[in-house]
Formats: sequence, C-alpha cells, structure tokens
Amino acid sequence: MLALFACILFTAFLEMAGVASIMPFMAVVANPGFIQNNSVMLEIGRFLGIADSRSYVISLGVLALCLLVAGNFFAAFTSAFVVRTGARLNQSISHRLLAAYLYRPYELFLTDNSSRLNRNILHEVYNVVFQVMTPALNVAARLASACSLVLLMLLVKPVLSTFVVAMLGGFYAMIYLMARKILKWNGERYLKSNRELAGIVSEALGGVKEIKVFGREFEYLDRFDEPARRVAYGQTIGAVVPQMPRYLMEVISFGGVILLVILYLATGREITTVMPLITLYAVAGYRLMPSLQQIFAGITQIRFSLPALNLLCADLTEAPQISPTDRDNSKIDPLPFNEEVKLEGVTYRYPGGNSNALDGVSLRIPANSTVALVGESGSGKSTLVDLLLGLLKIRDGAVLVDNIPVTGENIVSWQRNVGYVPQSIFLSDDTITRNIAFGVSSGQIDHAAVQKAAEQANLHGFIENELPDGYGTVIGERGVRISGGQRQRIGIARALYHDPKVLILDEATSALDGITENAVLEAMQNLAHKKTIIIVAHRFSSVRNSDCIFLLDQGKIAAQGTYDELMGASAMFRAMSGVTDDNG
Ligand SMILES: Nc1ncnc2c1ncn2[C@@H]1O[C@H](COP(=O)(O)OP(=O)(O)O)[C@@H](O)[C@H]1O
Ligand SMILES: [Mg+2]
Repeated sequence: MLALFACILFTAFLEMAGVASIMPFMAVVANPGFIQNNSVMLEIGRFLGIADSRSYVISLGVLALCLLVAGNFFAAFTSAFVVRTGARLNQSISHRLLAAYLYRPYELFLTDNSSRLNRNILHEVYNVVFQVMTPALNVAARLASACSLVLLMLLVKPVLSTFVVAMLGGFYAMIYLMARKILKWNGERYLKSNRELAGIVSEALGGVKEIKVFGREFEYLDRFDEPARRVAYGQTIGAVVPQMPRYLMEVISFGGVILLVILYLATGREITTVMPLITLYAVAGYRLMPSLQQIFAGITQIRFSLPALNLLCADLTEAPQISPTDRDNSKIDPLPFNEEVKLEGVTYRYPGGNSNALDGVSLRIPANSTVALVGESGSGKSTLVDLLLGLLKIRDGAVLVDNIPVTGENIVSWQRNVGYVPQSIFLSDDTITRNIAFGVSSGQIDHAAVQKAAEQANLHGFIENELPDGYGTVIGERGVRISGGQRQRIGIARALYHDPKVLILDEATSALDGITENAVLEAMQNLAHKKTIIIVAHRFSSVRNSDCIFLLDQGKIAAQGTYDELMGASAMFRAMSGVTDDNG
C-alpha cells in the first residue's frame, strides 16, 4: 500500500515536471531572444556550459520529451499497480468473507439465506473493490497530480490560476452536490433490487421441478422483470452521472483558451508574449481536466457502491482470527469416550422461536449401543441431534461425555468422535473417492480408509462391479446417476471415513423405500456394538433392533425402552407404530 502511494506521488511529480518543462521550451521556440533577456535562463545555461541558443532550445526540447515519456510511463505503471492492488484486495476480502461465514455458529445459518452469502462472496466483494476501493485509489492518484498541477499554475500566474482552478473545481463540486442524493438513493435501490433478483433466480432454478409441474414458469419471468428493470435503470444512472460533466467542462476550458487567443488577436496584442502561458493552460487543462473528471467520477462511483461496502463491512467484522495451528481439526485429539454420553435437562429454543423445541430432556446413551429417537415430525428429534453434534449451542442443561461437559472449548474435540448422516446427502460433482473423503484435500486422502468405509456401508461391491471407473467414477450433478439408496450409503461411508466412535443418522433412510432401507440398515447392523449408533427414524421397522428407543413428544421424552417394552407400556408408541406401519 505504501509503495502504491509512493508511486502515486512520484507520478504526480513527474507529470508536473513534464508540464513545467514545456513552458520554457515553448517560450524559447516562440522567441529565441528570450534566453538572452531572462537572467535565470542565462545562469542555467552558463552553469551547464551551453553557449548558443540553438543547442539550448534542443536541450530544453529533449528534457521536455524525456519528462513527458517518464511521466506517462509512470502513470501507466501506477494505473496497472492500482488494478493489481484491487485484484489482490478482491482475493483477500472474499477469502476473509468465506472464512467469516464458514466459522459462524451454525445457528446463524438458520436465519440467513445462502443465496445472499453466495452473492456476497462472488459478486459484492468484486463490486466493492472495483467500484469503491480502486476508484478511491484513483481519486487519490488524480488528486495528487491535480494538486501538483494547481501548485505549478499558482506559482506561475497566481491570480488567473486561482480563478481557473476555483471555476473548474467549483463546477465539479456543484454538480457533485446536486447529484449526491440521487446517487445515494440509486445505490441503495440498485443493491436491493439486485438481491431481489438473485433470490428470484435461485428460487426459480432451485424449485424447477415443481415450477414445471405447476406450469408457473411465466410467474418467475414476470417476477424477474420488475427488479431487473430497476437494476438496469440503476446501472444507467450509476454509469452516466459520473461521465456527464466531462463534455461541458471540455467546452468550457478549451473554449476558454480559444477565446483568450481570439481576444488577444482582436485587441491587436502580440500573441507571442502569451504563447507560453497559453501552452501552460492548454497542457494544464489537458492534464488537469481528466484528473478532475476522474476525481468526480471516482467519488460518484464510490457513492453509488457505498451501500454494498457497508453491508460487507458488517459481515467482515465477524471474520475470526484463526491461527494456522487450530485450522486443522484432525490435529485435535478426540475427547475420550468409553462409557456414555448423557443429556441432562437440555432445553433449547431456536433464535426467534416462540416455544421450546426441546424441554428439559435427559437421557443416557451407553457407548457402543444402538439407540433410536422416534416421534412425530416436529417433536424435536433433529434439534436433539444437532445439539449432540454441537451445531446448536447448549444454553440450558448439559451434554456430558464420560461425565465431562461439552463446552465451547472442547466441542471440536468431541466432534472428532462423531460421524453424521443427514436426510439428504450433498454430493459434489466429483469422484466417489472424493465424495467419501469429503473435504479432504486430494493429496491427503487415505484410500484404504475410503475403501473400508465403503465396505462398511455395503457400497464396495457396487462401486467395483457397476461403476465404469470404480472409485474414480464422477458422480453428482453432472456425473453418473446413482439411486437414492446408493446416495445414502455414500453419506454413511462419508461419515465412516474418519472412523468415528459415534454415528448419528438423522432420518437418513426415511426417503428410501422399505427394501432399500433394509439394505442400508443391514450395513448399520454390521456396525452394531462396534460403534455408538444414534438413529432418528420415522419408520418403526428400522428401530426394532435398537438397544433403547426414546419416544419424543413436543420436545420431551415421553417414553423409553426396548421395542417390546414400549409396545407394552406406551399407548402413544403403539398408536404411532400402527399409523406409520400402515402408511409404509
Ligand atoms: N430453524 C428453526 N427455527 C425455528 N424453529 C425451528 C427451527 N427448526 C425447527 N424448529 C422447531 O423446533 C421444533 C422441533 O423441530 P425438529 O427438531 O426439526 O423436529 P423433528 O426433527 O422431530 O421433526 C419444531 O416445532 C420446529 O417447528
Ligand atoms: Mg427432523
């Protein structure tokens, strides 16, 4: 950053020197007697040992030429430097933003939508950098060169320069003041409309199946139009306003020079006496005007994009300071777990929720047992699981692992014990291997562990015999289609890859048909009593073999015991088993 500012200042200095050197050159060309009449120039000539005026002129010309080349060379260099600095900034800010989002507590993801986060990282950062930060740097650069030029003009001709500078500057300032409100309004509206658009597009493409079935395509197209029109309008204002004053200013300043010449000629005065001055103003105008124009354009652009910057700043301040040593969870030792995990009086309410999702739940899960959580939809099963996973923060009650409470400090260490299979498995467009060793960089994948996990998930035979490239087969959105049962088993293999002591399945088989579910559950049977298995299930057939079943009702444990015990003791359990069995 410091080097950049040094470059900016040096460029400004060279530009000024270039302009300054043209003046004596033009003066001498216009009037060769000038040297003899000017004591300063005579002194310089004597000092440098240049005797005749002809070589003096040539020297001056060469000097002016050199300064011109150097000035423009540095200006080009500086502008490239500014762009590069911006691009680097873009890179580092999006990285920090992604970090800020990823390290957020999971609870915040419940209330934020992912298309917004996505957009922020991929688009808003870019916008902010190239529409706020680079313009700001450009404004600084232009300001430096404008100031040095103004200084030069003031030195040469104080009164006239003050007038010219005040007029040009005042004109721009006036336009800016007039446009400021519009620009602010426009910037905010643009941002809002853009976000609206992103929401519509992600909804339309995300729900494409339902939309097609209901024949609602036109609905989304219609909804797209209005914000899209506002975005287009906003872009127009944002781009046009900064450019507008330029045309008028060009007329005013160059017109002024022409008028001055006409005035001198008309009044019969000698044009050669004002020639250097006119040159100075032509050049200064030529240099100063674009600077002023760019300062104006930069500031209006910043105004336009400021709302986006403010939004990002708020998110960026969340960015955690992660030291490289805690970055990799695999270096943290798992929390010892040999006896049991217990919940004691756990109560949880979602942010913004108006009743408790879990209400004073206490339960005990012995190590290497298989337990099931059953209950109606909305009874709190997933909430309980997410608390156990450490995704939701325990505020009331405690989770104890071998009697050690799980807290913010040791949560990561507890999570190292846990494998999790959600209801819908996210498959990336990648090979089977990489989908099983999910999130592990390719160099660090343990292929033996991948295969072992696949075997445990009853997937190995399928991969070897039926997929064209075995473990290297690309699956996912653009890859080989796989069935729902295989998808879930990839999820199980993924959870097993790190060989966790605890395996949690939250309705992992609910979307499967009975036969496929049985195949998946069979894989679980192989692990019974080797790992602690917690199954959340809808269908009672899948929990029959559990060592203990917890029946949840409205956030409370309504009953617990083995399948047979519950069938005998709980009317609710009986009723539910009847209902769910009927419905398949
Ligand atoms: N993100 C959320 N925000 C607010 N309330 C939620 C959220 N997720 C779940 N709930 C509420 O918490 C209760 C328990 O939900 P959940 O644990 O998902 O039930 P289950 O998994 O048994 O179907 C429900 O009443 C549900 O409405
Ligand atoms: Mg659930």
